[in-house]
Amino acid sequence: MYSNLLKGLWPYIKPHKKKAFASLFFALVLAGLKWAQAALVKPVFDKGLSANGSIQEVIVIAGLLVLIMILNFPARFLHFYWIRYIVDKATCEMRTNIYAKIQKLPIWHFQQRKQGILVSTLVNDTITFSYGFRAAMDLIREPLYAIVLLGLAIYRDWQLTLVILVTAPLFILIFNKSGKSVKKNQGTVQEELGNLTHNISEGLSGQKVAKAFNLQDYLLKRFEETQNKYFNYMMKTTWTEEMAHPLVEFVGGLAFAGVLVFAQYRIRSGALTTGDFVSFVTAMALIMDPIRKLSAANIKLAQAEAAEKRIASIFAQEEEIDEGSLSQINFSDKIEINNLSFSYGEGNILKNLSLEIKKGQKVALVGLSGSGKSTLINILLGLYKTKPGTIKIDGVDINDIRLKTLRGLFGLVSQDIFLFHDTVRENLTLGKNVEEEKIEDALQVAYASDFLEKLYHKWDTVIGERGVRLSGGQQQRITIARAFLQNTPILLFDEATSSLDNESERMVQKALDRLSREKTVFAVAHRLSTISDFDMIYVLNRGQVVEQGTHHQLMAHKNEYFKLYGLGQKMEETVNV
Ligand SMILES: Nc1ncnc2c1ncn2[C@@H]1O[C@H](COP(=O)(O)OP(=O)(O)O)[C@@H](O)[C@H]1O
Ligand SMILES: [Mg+2]
Repeated sequence: MYSNLLKGLWPYIKPHKKKAFASLFFALVLAGLKWAQAALVKPVFDKGLSANGSIQEVIVIAGLLVLIMILNFPARFLHFYWIRYIVDKATCEMRTNIYAKIQKLPIWHFQQRKQGILVSTLVNDTITFSYGFRAAMDLIREPLYAIVLLGLAIYRDWQLTLVILVTAPLFILIFNKSGKSVKKNQGTVQEELGNLTHNISEGLSGQKVAKAFNLQDYLLKRFEETQNKYFNYMMKTTWTEEMAHPLVEFVGGLAFAGVLVFAQYRIRSGALTTGDFVSFVTAMALIMDPIRKLSAANIKLAQAEAAEKRIASIFAQEEEIDEGSLSQINFSDKIEINNLSFSYGEGNILKNLSLEIKKGQKVALVGLSGSGKSTLINILLGLYKTKPGTIKIDGVDINDIRLKTLRGLFGLVSQDIFLFHDTVRENLTLGKNVEEEKIEDALQVAYASDFLEKLYHKWDTVIGERGVRLSGGQQQRITIARAFLQNTPILLFDEATSSLDNESERMVQKALDRLSREKTVFAVAHRLSTISDFDMIYVLNRGQVVEQGTHHQLMAHKNEYFKLYGLGQKMEETVNV
C-alpha cells in the first residue's frame, strides 16, 4: 500500500541498520512483556486475590510484576530512543539532500516558481515525512503487540476470540477508506501550505513597501485568504482523521459488548474462570491501543506519502546542465561572442550579437533598460545556454568548460547586493582561510576600511539582513572587497552603482576603478561618464549591437551613444538642481 514511501525510506534507514535491528529486537522484547503482563492477570485473580491463596504465591506474582517492569525499562527506552534517532537523523539527511538538490537547479527555476513552495517542501514536507516515518515504525511494533495479545486471548478462550475476530474486516475497511481519503486531499493541503509559506515570506520581505503604501490591511487580507484555503483543505483531512478514531473505538466497543454477553454464558458453564476472563479482557483492552495506533499510523502514512511525492518531484527536476569537461583554463587571450541569439521563451532578447573582450581590456556595454545587457552577463556566467551562436574563451567554447571553472573566471559585482547575515570577515572570506593582510588590502581597495574602523567589532561585526545597518554604498563596497579577494581574471559589473545615491555612487565607482586595475573588465554601465576611458564600448539596442568604438569615436558619430549620453547628462542636471 505504501510501497513508494517505503522505497523512499530505505536509503535513509540503511546507514543506521544496526540501530534499526536493535530497535526491532527490543520491540520483540516489549511485545513479550506485554504478553506477560496480560497473562499474569490470571494468577492475580485466581490465586493472589482469592480467599485461599497463599502469601508465597502472592510474593512470586508481585516479584514477577517487578521483574517485568525492570526489563521494560531499558527495552522501552532503547526501542523508542533509537527509533527517534533514526527518524530524525534520516529527516535531517533528507533535508540536506533536498537543499543540495536545490543548489543544483538551473536559475530559471527560481524565477518561475514560487520560492515559498521550495521552502515549504524543505521545512514542512520533511516534517510530515518524518511523522510518516515514525508511523512506519509503529506499523512494525503495534502489530507485534496485537499478535501476542491475540495469541493470549486465543489461549484463554478461542471461542470468545472468534467473536472479536468477526469485527476484524470492519477495522480493515475503516483503515482502507480513511487512508485513501487522506491521500486524496493531502497533496492539496501541502500545496496550500506552500502557498502560505510563500505568502508569509513575501509579506516579510516587502515590509518597507507595505508600510510606505499602507498595505497592511491588503497584506492581511491576502494572508487570510491563502490561510483560509489551507484551512479548508486541512479540515477535510482532519474530518477523516477524527472520524476514523472514534469509529475504530466504536467497532471495538461493539465487539467487547458481544464478548461480555458470551463470556457470561461461558463462565456459567464452567469453561472459564474469572481469572481467565479478566486476563482475556485485559488482552482485549491492551489490543485496543495497537489498533488505535495503527489507525493513526495509517493516516500519518497517507500524509507522508503525499509529502514524499512532493519531495520526489524536486528530486526529479533536471539539474543545471554541466557537460563541459575542461576544468582548467588560464585566461590569456580573449572572449569572443559570435552571432549570439537568445530567448527566454518568447521573442528574441539577443539577436546576432557579436563582441570581443581582449585580456587586459576594459569593455563596456551600454543601452536602454531592457535591451538585454543583464541577459548577456547571465549567459557569460553559464546561467543560460548559448543557442544559437557561440561564446569562446581563448578559443574554447564555454559549453566545453565545466561550470565551476567557467564561473571561477569571473568576479561579479551587480546591482543585487547580497550579503550573508554574518560577520564582515565571513562575508569576505566565505569560509576560506585568508590572511589578515589580504583582508586589509581588500578593504582598502574597496574604500571600506574607514567605515568598518568605526564599527564596534570592526571586521567581526555582524552585517547582512538583520545585522548592523550599512548603507547601500557601504554594502556594495564590501562586495567589491569580496570580489577583490576572489581575485578572478575577469570582472563583470552589472550596473553596480545604479541603486545608490550620488555620494555613495562616487565612492563605489572609485572602489570599482581600483578593483579594475590590471584586470579584464566587462562592465554594464548606466552612467556613461564612468566609461569614457574604456578601450571599447558596445551600444546595445533591443538585443543588437548597433554601435561600437571608444567614447571619443562614438561621441563623434553623434548617433545612439551620443543620444544616450545626452539623456544621461540631462538626468544628472535634474538630479543636481
Ligand atoms: N528570467 C527572465 N525570463 C523572461 N524574460 C526575462 C527574464 N529576464 C529578463 N527578461 C526580459 O529580457 C529582456 C532583457 O532583460 P535584461 O537583460 O535584464 O535587460 P537589461 O539588463 O538591459 O535592462 C527584458 O525584456 C526582460 O523583460
Ligand atoms: Mg540589467
